[in-house]
Amino acid sequence: MRVLMVCLGNICRSPMADGWLRHRVKEHNLQVEVDSAGTANYHVGEKPDHRMRRLSLEYGVSIDELRARQFSVADFDNYDIIFAMDKSNEQNILRLARTDQDRQKVRLFLNELYPGQDMEVPDPYYGTDMNFKEVIELLDLATNAFLKNNQLIENS
Ligand code: 4NP
Repeated sequence: MRVLMVCLGNICRSPMADGWLRHRVKEHNLQVEVDSAGTANYHVGEKPDHRMRRLSLEYGVSIDELRARQFSVADFDNYDIIFAMDKSNEQNILRLARTDQDRQKVRLFLNELYPGQDMEVPDPYYGTDMNFKEVIELLDLATNAFLKNNQLIENS
């Protein structure tokens, strides 16, 4: 399975979602490919936000090696599931979809944790360390929910 995490800048939410999923894939020795991208191009080539890089280490996850890139139409061919962090990202991705098959790959990530509720991962960019930690914890829960929903890890 190939999974792409997408937010706006690809420096806060989607790199962290990417980091958590890579962490769990390694931990459980799973056959899942993971990457992340942003719908915008403002931060292309940059490392994740310094606050996210610092705080992610408190949770045992390093995202230092990731570099921001922009989502492109080719991602519809290269990934099976495209998780949007919020509805605006979801709309921006859907605008680039060419076919129904492309459209069906796009989902809101938090629907894994809160099915059918269409909740969004809040953008922490203009927030505090506390906002970043809330996002990190939410993404941890959603990542585990995704793996359980797909029977990749056991329910506990
Ligand atoms: P992200 O957060 O979409 O979670 O990476 C943001 C990063 C940068 C900006 C907005 C959101 N920005 O406006 O530069």
